[in-house]
Amino acid sequence: MVEHQEYFGNAAQIDLAKRGNKLWMLLCNDPKYSFYGRMVSLCGPGDDAVARCAALANLQGAMSCQYYPANQADAFCAELESLHLNSSRYEQCRGEATAIEICRQTASNAALPDSVTLTEISNGSSVGQIRSVAELSLSCGVMPVPGWAMRGESRDGVCLVLEDEAGDAVATASSYMCNHPESPRGKDAFWGMLATREDWRGRGVAQVLGAEAIVRMADRYGAESFNTGVTADNAASLALCAKLGVTPSKWTFIGCVDPSTFGHGQITR
Ligand SMILES: CC(C)(COP(=O)(O)OP(=O)(O)OC[C@H]1O[C@@H](n2cnc3c(N)ncnc32)[C@H](O)[C@@H]1OP(=O)(O)O)[C@@H](O)C(=O)NCCC(=O)NCCS
Repeated sequence: MVEHQEYFGNAAQIDLAKRGNKLWMLLCNDPKYSFYGRMVSLCGPGDDAVARCAALANLQGAMSCQYYPANQADAFCAELESLHLNSSRYEQCRGEATAIEICRQTASNAALPDSVTLTEISNGSSVGQIRSVAELSLSCGVMPVPGWAMRGESRDGVCLVLEDEAGDAVATASSYMCNHPESPRGKDAFWGMLATREDWRGRGVAQVLGAEAIVRMADRYGAESFNTGVTADNAASLALCAKLGVTPSKWTFIGCVDPSTFGHGQITR
């Protein structure tokens, strides 16, 4: 794994996050776009969505288009492919007030094993802690955000990690405010990046961390709804999300990659 200034992943993922950060400095005042650390995304697709997706993918290497109507997603992906862009489709799972209530119940009933400690990443977290979260995420196929994003330095957010007695991350979950505060989606948060080390799976820890992240975002930042992209074949993630009241919506997340810049790899699971 290559690491540079708390950027993590393979060279293409690191370049993507760096370009995304630079582009966000130019676009952060435009409510059409959103960002939480990975790359600039389109959050209000209109008639010119194909052109905007292509431009963002060309500039960054990859992008995602959120809130794209699910019943038109296949045709949209075909249009992107005709421009020599690779597309992938994620269900846009979404939870609102009911999900927040389910998560409150889940978090208040949670009993984590004594051998692990739940920690929230902050400004004061060590470089080693950040690296441990990133390495766990990557080992589970999930692209982490850069360290400064985990620390909450770019967007309001919560990055939770469950650490074992050796201080190694065994599970993580995150949520960030990602949209322009004045956009109609200003209270929508991105939620997810759930990852549990294989030997810790099936013990309910992702459910607790996912619930905690939602409750903290609702209470601290007034987040009213939570969105995440899950591929239709990720049964474990879909079941976990559903358990927390985060279910497939009428929208999709479309992932769009410019292979001439990013190569043929996947952005994230
Ligand atoms: C998805 C993932 C985070 C779940 O972690 P976990 O700690 O094992 O999950 P939990 O034990 O908290 O499971 C909570 C609920 O999720 C569902 N679930 C979890 N794993 C499941 C599986 N393999 N198959 C079906 N349902 C599953 C169940 O409903 C479960 O509740 P139950 O055990 O009471 O039935 C883990 O499998 C993982 O890291 N996967 C790879 C990374 C990934 O896909 N992340 C999501 C990206 S969108």
